[in-house]
Amino acid sequence: MEIYEAIKKRKTCRDWQNKDVPLNMIKKIMEAGLKAPTHNHLREWEFIVLHTPQEKEKALRFTKAAVEEFEQNNSLDSLPDKVQQKMYRYAMPRQYSMLFNAPYIIIPLFKASGLRAKSVDQLNGFASIWCVIENIFLATTAEGLGYSLSVPIGEEGTKVCKELGVPSDYLMAAYIGIGYPDATASRIEQHAYTADQKIHFGSW
Ligand SMILES: Cc1cc2nc3c(=O)[nH]c(=O)nc-3n(C[C@H](O)[C@H](O)[C@H](O)COP(=O)(O)O)c2cc1C
Repeated sequence: MEIYEAIKKRKTCRDWQNKDVPLNMIKKIMEAGLKAPTHNHLREWEFIVLHTPQEKEKALRFTKAAVEEFEQNNSLDSLPDKVQQKMYRYAMPRQYSMLFNAPYIIIPLFKASGLRAKSVDQLNGFASIWCVIENIFLATTAEGLGYSLSVPIGEEGTKVCKELGVPSDYLMAAYIGIGYPDATASRIEQHAYTADQKIHFGSW
């Protein structure tokens, strides 16, 4: 698939076909991730890949609790943007199923420093893993697959890493579910902008 086509087609998926993904496709997608730019030349990235229901359940048991707590403490009614509100109403009830029902879950890990950064350069490790993640998204799309994305809330990430035996100097950036998208799933409206609406030539 041509790069601009993959960029155009990429979208977050939360509903899946009941169809497994060959492991060699997952590896190919992760190879694309590993081609991402790296701030310190070291590519300090590792990945946990979950496939069996038992593996997924073990890692996701904290997600259920975190989402329930979020829903209790954050009223979606208070979101001023109606498009955003609609998206949350669709996405929130799917936060567990969009991962558990995906045939594979990839957990990208990065060597953590700078989470209390005082300047953007101290966030380079975090920025690099998100370059990896975007490569994974585009490669997934190019393969005709879909992905779901969830970022752990509060202490959730640390708990998951502990459960999965991740060394204490690494942090998880996200959960990425990968599978064949359910083509019948509803498409929720998104804000869209042109470059002309966002460019400030010369200065803001
Ligand atoms: C940093 C980041 C965190 C996100 N976290 C979540 C999440 O926790 N749960 C979720 O369902 N979607 C999450 N998303 C996906 C967004 O909801 C999605 O990208 C947005 O609605 C735009 O839709 P699109 O990706 O289909 O273009 C996240 C996206 C980003 C970039």
